[in-house]
Amino acid sequence: MSSLSRIKSELSRIEEQHEKISSIINSLLRDSAEGANIEDLRDQLKELVNLLHNHFATENALMAQSDFPNMTVHMREHKRIFEEINSLYQQIKRGEKALSPILADYFRYLEDIHIASVDKELIEFCEKKLNP
Ligand SMILES: [Fe+2]
Ligand SMILES: [Fe+2]
Repeated sequence: MSSLSRIKSELSRIEEQHEKISSIINSLLRDSAEGANIEDLRDQLKELVNLLHNHFATENALMAQSDFPNMTVHMREHKRIFEEINSLYQQIKRGEKALSPILADYFRYLEDIHIASVDKELIEFCEKKLNP
């Protein structure tokens, strides 16, 4: 596969992952507001943590492949977001915490700041490479 067609297929994979991330986040926030049991929330959160792990790896690989200029800062942000959400998940798993408003804040940060702005910059950069 040529490097441009690889970038193209990674981009569509990333868009799909973003949709899936948003849909799990929306469902987690809705279920927790409706008082769903903690087991169910824990399972959804586990799915989100696994998905984020794969998703950040996909984006990191794409940044390296496409010589994205803000790669270091963007990768550092992935690491920080993952560590924060994963550590809250580990606490919830051990029963030390219920789904807290802090977690909802991280979700909003992930959707409203990271995906909406930091990732958008990467996607637009790659699209420009595909259609100069
Ligand atoms: Fe992303
Ligand atoms: Fe990202």
